[in-house]
Amino acid sequence: MPLPHTPSISADGLSRAGRPRLAFLGTGYLGATYAVCLAELGYDVLGFDPDASKIAHLAAGRVPFHEPGLQDLLRTNLAAGRLRFSTSLDEVAAFGDIHVVCVGTPQRAGAMAADLSQVRSAITNLVPRIRRKALIIGKSTVPVGTTAWIESLVADHADPGLGIEVAWSPEFLREGLAVNDVLRPDRVVFGVRSDWASAMLHAAHQGVFDLAAEESREVPVIVCDFATAELVKVAANAFLATKISFINAMAEVCEASGGDVELLAQAIGHDARIGRQFLGAGIGFGGGCLPKDLRAFQARAQELGVGEALRFLYEVDLINQRSRQRVVRLAATLLGCPDGPTGPDFAGTRIACLGATFKPDSDDVRDSPALSVIRTFAAAGAEVRVYDPRGTDNAREAVPEVAYAQSLADAVARADLLCVLTEWGEFREADPAALARLVRGHRVIDGRGCLDAARWAAAGWDHHTLGRRVKVQQDSARWLVR
Ligand code: UDX
Repeated sequence: MPLPHTPSISADGLSRAGRPRLAFLGTGYLGATYAVCLAELGYDVLGFDPDASKIAHLAAGRVPFHEPGLQDLLRTNLAAGRLRFSTSLDEVAAFGDIHVVCVGTPQRAGAMAADLSQVRSAITNLVPRIRRKALIIGKSTVPVGTTAWIESLVADHADPGLGIEVAWSPEFLREGLAVNDVLRPDRVVFGVRSDWASAMLHAAHQGVFDLAAEESREVPVIVCDFATAELVKVAANAFLATKISFINAMAEVCEASGGDVELLAQAIGHDARIGRQFLGAGIGFGGGCLPKDLRAFQARAQELGVGEALRFLYEVDLINQRSRQRVVRLAATLLGCPDGPTGPDFAGTRIACLGATFKPDSDDVRDSPALSVIRTFAAAGAEVRVYDPRGTDNAREAVPEVAYAQSLADAVARADLLCVLTEWGEFREADPAALARLVRGHRVIDGRGCLDAARWAAAGWDHHTLGRRVKVQQDSARWLVR
């Protein structure tokens, strides 16, 4: 169904329909996705980035990363004239009624805390150029206290007569589903200090509310203080990470005791208080958000003197790291690799790794558990061939020392072991009987619990997942329990 579009925007102030003009600062994954989707909802949008090549790509209708559905929406909205991109902050300052900060907040080198230098430079470079009252909305994931700090930056750098205000409205985008997550959020959060800021945020979300009304849905709105708004995002990510590590801890116990973590997850997931989502056992979480947010949250809690309250997140992180190692140990056991001085020695083995991205339907390899396992196999002497439907270019840049195949069949040819490390549909749907004819050893580790175990076993495969006891030779069993 086509989405409703607002009439064109008047030269100054808000449009006749009361829609503010939206400028997005930073056109990485977050900013580009928001800019395109808000234009689709009928807003007049300008995307800014200091990186001229990024802006040139977007302005030419090319999304520089893989996100299903985004490319088509980018082209439609560029053509409709609702969406433009620029490297000029003067243009941004003149255009925006609302400036949305979407810059990166990576983990600081050599520390757990977040690096806010991009936020600082976005604000201090933009606000001296603004000539009328405007709202600055933060969206990047940041430590609690950042909005108040931005307010002080604005006070130091802006014309005080303009009354520029600041607010915080976190995002909850999932890669691979980001378009839908912007258009149809399951909630929106407005961290504000004034009724004006709250009204502006409502206006900036009117397109989302209108679409929900058309589809007979409601979008819950939580209006709160700055600190709560900032905490909502990190608390949500910390909870999701904890849920994943919880089931991976259960997987370890299942392996030691003879239980089956998949059945366990099904059984506890039927309890509505627990729920089945995010109880997928396997090689654990990665990506640009969960791991770094978890660490930055702990660092901030320590600064606030409540480090103990989040000490369990350290354990969540450790369980996650261990999940990556467990798949390597399982592989060593299945291949009968001898124990070397720093771990198993994979020399002489050929391993096909299926998947490199941190999740399917994405080309993102940041902190990817799959890539970490691939790197470990290679460092331990295995001959590794990797196949990923979308992530090969990024993976090759990060881990150039392994071979990358053009197809699934090419990757598995003559392999002693297959490891499924990302749950791409192509791997779920692959024909195990056809693959069985290509390999040297009929062993598969399903590191994401995504294959049909019975179908693979029927095709002659020795099929293993994490979280089920493996029948191993006596001398290598210790790797599984160490
Ligand atoms: C996450 C949050 O879900 C999103 O709300 C936030 O805005 C950004 O961070 P994303 O990084 O896209 O989104 O990935 P997500 O779908 O949450 O998955 C994160 C990682 O957890 C992936 O590596 C995934 O494979 C893993 N995962 C997920 C599991 O290992 N088991 C599960 O059951 C679910």
